[in-house]
Amino acid sequence: LTAAATAVALSFSATAGLAACDDGEIVIKFSHVTNTDKHPKGIAASLLEQRVNDEMNGTACMEVFPSSTLYNDDKVLEAMLQGDVQLAAPSLSKFEKFTKQFRIFDLPFMFTNIEAVDAFQGSATGQAMKDSMQRRGLQGLAFWHNGMKQMSANRPLVQPTDANGLKFRVQSSDVLVAQMEAIGGSPQKMAFSEVYGALQQGVVDGQENTWSNIFGRKFFEVQDGTTETNHGIIDYLVVASVDWLDSLDADVRDQFLTILDEVTEARNKESFAVNQAARQSIIDAGGTVRELTAEQRQAWVDAMKPVWAQFAGDVGQENIDAAQAINA
Ligand code: LMR
Repeated sequence: LTAAATAVALSFSATAGLAACDDGEIVIKFSHVTNTDKHPKGIAASLLEQRVNDEMNGTACMEVFPSSTLYNDDKVLEAMLQGDVQLAAPSLSKFEKFTKQFRIFDLPFMFTNIEAVDAFQGSATGQAMKDSMQRRGLQGLAFWHNGMKQMSANRPLVQPTDANGLKFRVQSSDVLVAQMEAIGGSPQKMAFSEVYGALQQGVVDGQENTWSNIFGRKFFEVQDGTTETNHGIIDYLVVASVDWLDSLDADVRDQFLTILDEVTEARNKESFAVNQAARQSIIDAGGTVRELTAEQRQAWVDAMKPVWAQFAGDVGQENIDAAQAINA
C-alpha cells in the first residue's frame, strides 16, 4: 500500500466499526470468533446487539465483530483489559491464563448433556465461578451454551484406537491436550480461525467441536466424517472488564445487565435445537455423521476418563462430585 492508501485504510477502519453509534453514546464492542447464523453464540450476540441498540439508543450502542474479524480468543481478553473491546464470550477452555477452575468443563464425559451443564452453572459453585477472575480484572456476566462436542478426522473414528497417531487440533486447554493424548493422538493448540486451513492442508488430521461449529466453519467438508461421541462440551462465559463495568452509571449498567440476562435465558433454551439443526445441515450437505453403539461409546469413556485424575486437584473433587450428582 502507498502511504496515502494506508492512511485511507486506517481512517476507514477507525470509524467503520462504529457505524451504529451516535456521538456521546457508550460504545460496546463485542468481539467473538464464530459465525452469526445457525450458531448459538452468533445468534445470541446478534440479539443482544439488536436489543441494546433499540432499547438503549441515545445511551449506548453495541457493535458485534464476529468470525475473529477483530480478535481471536488468544488476544481478546488482553485487548479487553486494555479497553480496546468491552465484551467477549470465549469458550470456557480459553481462560487457562486467568483461572484453572473452568477446567472442570473440559474434562471428558463430565456432563451428560447441556441441561446438566446448565444446572451446574446455576448452582452456587457455578455462580461463584463468574466472580473468580475479579482480581485479574475480569468479571464473568453470563454463561452461554453451545453444546456437546463431536470428533472428526480424515479417517473413520469408531473405536478410540482409531485416533492413534492422528494429529488433533485442540483449543488452548491443557485438559484437552491430555484428553487427546489419552487416545494416542497428538494434540496441537490452534486458534479457531486457523482450523479449516489446517485440516485442509493436513497440518492436523482431526478436531473436536460442536455441530454448529463443524457446520459453521465447514470442517465436515475437509474431514472423512464426524463421529457422534458427545464426549465433552463447549460453553462460553460472557465477560467484561471490572474497570469498564465500574465506569458505567448504575442505571445504565443495570439496564444492560438485565437485557443480557434476558437474552441469555431466551437463547440458552434454544442451543440444543440450533446444534441439532446444524447436524442435519451437515448431512444435507453430504457430510458423513457416524453414530456409536452403547458399547463403542463406552470404549471412548474408558479411554478418556482417566484424565479426570490428572486435574482433580485443579477443579476440586467436591466439584466433580457435584457435577456427577447433577448427571444422576
Ligand atoms: C473453538 O475454538 O473451537 C471454539 O471455542 C470456538 C467457539 O467460540 O465456539
